Amino acid sequence: MTTDHKAILSFTDGTPSVEFPMLKGTTGPDVIDIRKLYAQTGKFTYDTGFLSTASCDSTITYIDGDKGQLLYRGYPIEQLAVNCSFLEVCYLLYYGELPPESEFKEFEQLVIHHTMVHEQMQFAMRGFRRDSHPMAILTSLVGSMAAFYPDSLDINSPEQQDISFVRLIAKMPTMVAMSYKYSIGQPYIYPKNSLDYASNFMHMMFATPCEEYTPNPVLVRAMDRIFTLHADHEQNASTSTVRLCGSSGTSPFSAIAAGVACLWGPAHGGANQACLEMLEQIQAEGGLAKVGEFMERVKDKNSGARLMGFGHRVYKNFDPRAKLMQETCREVLDELGLGNDPIFKLAMALEKIALEDDYFVQRKLYPNVDFYSGIVQRALGIPTSMFTCIFALARTIGWVAQWKEMITDPEYKIGRPRQLYTGHPERAVHGKRSRA
Ligand code: CMC
Repeated sequence: MTTDHKAILSFTDGTPSVEFPMLKGTTGPDVIDIRKLYAQTGKFTYDTGFLSTASCDSTITYIDGDKGQLLYRGYPIEQLAVNCSFLEVCYLLYYGELPPESEFKEFEQLVIHHTMVHEQMQFAMRGFRRDSHPMAILTSLVGSMAAFYPDSLDINSPEQQDISFVRLIAKMPTMVAMSYKYSIGQPYIYPKNSLDYASNFMHMMFATPCEEYTPNPVLVRAMDRIFTLHADHEQNASTSTVRLCGSSGTSPFSAIAAGVACLWGPAHGGANQACLEMLEQIQAEGGLAKVGEFMERVKDKNSGARLMGFGHRVYKNFDPRAKLMQETCREVLDELGLGNDPIFKLAMALEKIALEDDYFVQRKLYPNVDFYSGIVQRALGIPTSMFTCIFALARTIGWVAQWKEMITDPEYKIGRPRQLYTGHPERAVHGKRSRA
């Protein structure tokens, strides 16, 4: 991992220059190992937003933003999305290899047999207002798992790590569906062990005690693909939150509840909802005829408008997930006889204009995964308020795999960033305060 090269840092304040090792990953940029900087110089680095800082080493996911490449454990997302089910991807992300056929059946059965949540959980739900945002409910439900499974606090036990992983991926669809059913005032639907992972989720979302849900293979495959495309994305905000929270040694359920809370923000998991709302607004204002006008607004810095679903901090090329999502979008709309869906047509028209427009070309702004995922979810019957919950369900595997990688790393330490203090220097409280 260490290369023969060094980075040399020199100072103009008289501090002697220092030499740092350079680390090489399997692929991607080299990294300057500054861990001894403070001990050697008494200085910290300053990097708000982690623009140039690797917070860990990881073997799970790799993104090359310039190429538009996303790999899970070395496998391209395009191949995983087409050839594997989401549960196989879960196995891959957690254990590092795709499951052999014989082991997969056993793993699938294990997950299926953990889909029910503790019956007390529904009483916890009753404390919430019916109009609570499902993400607020989901954050609490995931955190409450630590109360139902106190054994998980033994985070150094490999058995407890593995059972927490299975419980999380098995129960997340049940908890997401419960938060939806609660918000619309319908009874919860229990999981059905005869169904596969994605069909079971759709059954819990859309069946009622008086009506069965019959899974449609095209729609189930679309749901499964949405899960796969959102499964992991290396050290994004929510994953870094899970790592930081988990680094204190707290229960995995508490760390992942922190990840759910982080994901909720509009700059992270909330963008697909914002994108669909943008498309609906353009449609309401006149649809295709208004596209040109909207694009001018987006390019005008003073308007504050952005083309939602476009641009990415890391991808400076096509987000590979966006291409797959567009394909799924077409399949779902055709299956449902919605091939002429005006919102889809609008999205295609916006994409075409943006990809040819200098403003977007020069800034390397391409469609991201959220550009089409809202249209797919809406076609599947999922309300916009649930979009981020679906993202949380899918990302749970990424969070738990990253948590496990961290706590089993022999070099793991509690995360403790430093700061550049800009407040008052020390000062005195003069005289006694009135209530002292
Ligand atoms: N529409 C119009 N202009 C844009 C857009 C956009 N969607 N995105 C970036 N720009 C412009 C921006 O105004 C700036 O222009 P200039 O250089 O003239 O000031 C330039 O492009 C760079 O933008 P930035 O905001 O500095 O880039 P960033 O890396 O900080 O932001 C982003 C990335 C995703 C927050 C941003 O592109 C954005 O707001 N996109 C729309 C929201 C969105 O779709 N978010 C989902 C991200 S994917 C989800 C995930 O992977 O978790």
